Amino acid sequence: MTVTASSRIVILGGTSGIGLATARRAAEVGAVVTIASRRPESIGRALAELPAGVVGRAVDASSSAAVAALFDELGAFDHLVYTAGENLVGRPLAEYSVAHAQKFFGLRVFHALEAVRLAVSHLSATGSITLTSGTAAYKGGPGWTLGTATSGAIVSVARSLAVELAPLRVNVVAPGVVRSPLWAQLSEEDRESMYAGAAATLPVGRVAEPDDVAKAFLALMDQDHVTGTVAVVDGGALVA
Ligand SMILES: NC(=O)c1ccc[n+]([C@@H]2O[C@H](COP(=O)([O-])OP(=O)(O)OC[C@H]3O[C@@H](n4cnc5c(N)ncnc54)[C@H](OP(=O)(O)O)[C@@H]3O)[C@@H](O)[C@H]2O)c1
Repeated sequence: MTVTASSRIVILGGTSGIGLATARRAAEVGAVVTIASRRPESIGRALAELPAGVVGRAVDASSSAAVAALFDELGAFDHLVYTAGENLVGRPLAEYSVAHAQKFFGLRVFHALEAVRLAVSHLSATGSITLTSGTAAYKGGPGWTLGTATSGAIVSVARSLAVELAPLRVNVVAPGVVRSPLWAQLSEEDRESMYAGAAATLPVGRVAEPDDVAKAFLALMDQDHVTGTVAVVDGGALVA
């Protein structure tokens, strides 16, 4: 289903970074957009910079009841985008703990799947679900084991769900490093140095802005003949 003024789009995690940029692009084509995240102040800040008409709701994606209540309030919609995520610090395997692993998988995988389960009966048959992974699905490194595991899991579940939930389409966006508030807990100096270090290795010579990634979410919603696939938006990181 092409994204038009009649498309109803719900973005869990839509108040910041990639989700917010996706909401902006969708609202600019006139779609009926609902953004949701935990903190009312995130909603207020996001709505202040989005086109009029976007609706915001405070919803913790790790609460099944809250997500179900949101979908019940909205009724039928066409596209679900899941970008909810928090910045978790990776650890070497020597410091592995099951509790830390469960944190990594919680919001990004377990609750993403729960949101999909709860959304299915609300989504139109010509609609879509787009989940968030990362280039860690394909390329790891020291301390990245849980990041690779969660990113890889999302790529894999989309392959399966695309078949199980057909004709609903299920796709994934896998960003590389994105200049977004996800990295706000780093000092400005560390953050800029991380961006500069990453940019220097990239064929495109810069890290992504949230809007670069938002384009991929819009494309996957729009593209009727694509399901079970991954849009990698990484400035060439995987091939450099
Ligand atoms: N930025 C990168 O470099 C990068 C690279 C690869 C993959 N990713 C992935 O892309 C996704 C989005 O990242 P981003 O860069 O856009 O991050 P971001 O700017 O920090 O945005 C994250 C969003 O998730 C929401 N959120 C956090 N916990 C939530 C919860 N329990 N329930 C509902 N919403 C919640 C936040 O709002 P509240 O705080 O109000 O809840 C915020 O709107 C994440 O999964 C991230 O891991 C990011």
